[in-house]
Amino acid sequence: MTQLLNVKDITAPADAVSHLIEALRADVGKDAQHSQTLPPETYHSTAFFKLEANKIFRSDWLCIGHVAQLVNVGDYFSIDIVGEPLLAVRSTEGIRVMSRVCLHRWMPIAEGSGNAKAFVCPFHNWSYNLQGQMLGAPSMDQAQGFVAKELQLPQVRSEIVAGLIFITLSNSVGSIAERLSDLTPLLDKYGFSDLSVAFTTDYDCDFNWKIAAETFMECYHHPAVHRASLETSFPGRLSSIGDGGVGWSVCNQPLRAKGELTEILTPGLIPFSGIQGADQREVKLLQIFPNCLIGLDPDRVSVTTLLPVSPELTVWHRVVLVSPQSAAQDTFGETVTRMQARGNAIASEDLKVNGIQQRATHSTFARPGRLSHLERTVWELANYVRSRLLE
Ligand code: FES
Ligand SMILES: [Fe+2]
Repeated sequence: MTQLLNVKDITAPADAVSHLIEALRADVGKDAQHSQTLPPETYHSTAFFKLEANKIFRSDWLCIGHVAQLVNVGDYFSIDIVGEPLLAVRSTEGIRVMSRVCLHRWMPIAEGSGNAKAFVCPFHNWSYNLQGQMLGAPSMDQAQGFVAKELQLPQVRSEIVAGLIFITLSNSVGSIAERLSDLTPLLDKYGFSDLSVAFTTDYDCDFNWKIAAETFMECYHHPAVHRASLETSFPGRLSSIGDGGVGWSVCNQPLRAKGELTEILTPGLIPFSGIQGADQREVKLLQIFPNCLIGLDPDRVSVTTLLPVSPELTVWHRVVLVSPQSAAQDTFGETVTRMQARGNAIASEDLKVNGIQQRATHSTFARPGRLSHLERTVWELANYVRSRLLE
């Protein structure tokens, strides 16, 4: 029996957040026509962030990436979840996730991503196999009762759903596969379990994780922020919010009525075999609460993992995936370069606005703002936050 990670309880001082909790409670039960944003202070308050870290990021399921990032035995990537340094590894037994904090004096045993036969801590060379079991520790022969081979890095609970790798630091939360059972048929249409990595991108966002999610999940801002890049082909007013499910929400972003398919398809990519006809004329934007944002294009998908670092800093790790047939094209390298340029151009438009928006949440005059029907996903995220923090 492997030892599951023992999660520390980090609790915010009750008096620092009590007025925010009261504000959250006041909006419980409102319908979408009466919806408004969360209080602006919830986007920069350190005490509120600690509460979110404890009740959301240390208690619920979090997506950390896709199995296509760990194809071969020894492939690994590191990831930090609200201060918890973790390591995802493919061993001969499949994918596992564990703490990467050395059992000696806490140095993380790996950084970044790559392929390894074993992990050697860069501080004093203690070594671990791909399962996290200690292989050896130099000059420890005089340490009484120390048996290196009996020690293992704490293992983290994980599940794989349609190729997405989820972890949780909770030993009690129910299965994420069950929660998402009404979403997986949609992901299957895009061949989600069998995708290839086109590229990965990291952004440091100088704003709160909720701002990143909200902006991704609505097209209401297209006419202003993406006037030259997206609005012509994907007019914000044509977008609609779908019904979603218990753990996820969806925004539909259709191509303009007379738009050509060349406006939505990427040259050099082959559309997914499950996405044909009218389905090719729409991009879908999904949020799996809390930290996973997915863009579903007819020929590529993006999976973004939001990693909150502090109330006003979020690491945004994105992996863009295509079908294995697209990845096998001779021109795939050039296709990736074009996709990266396009993705960075659109992201930079959002990042600029969101950084300015974050700073303005500190204004004495900032209040909760009313929401359009085109941004019901913002309300759905607020409902998720309420459900976790008020339980
Ligand atoms: S901290 Fe890892 S070997 Fe010392
Ligand atoms: Fe945007």
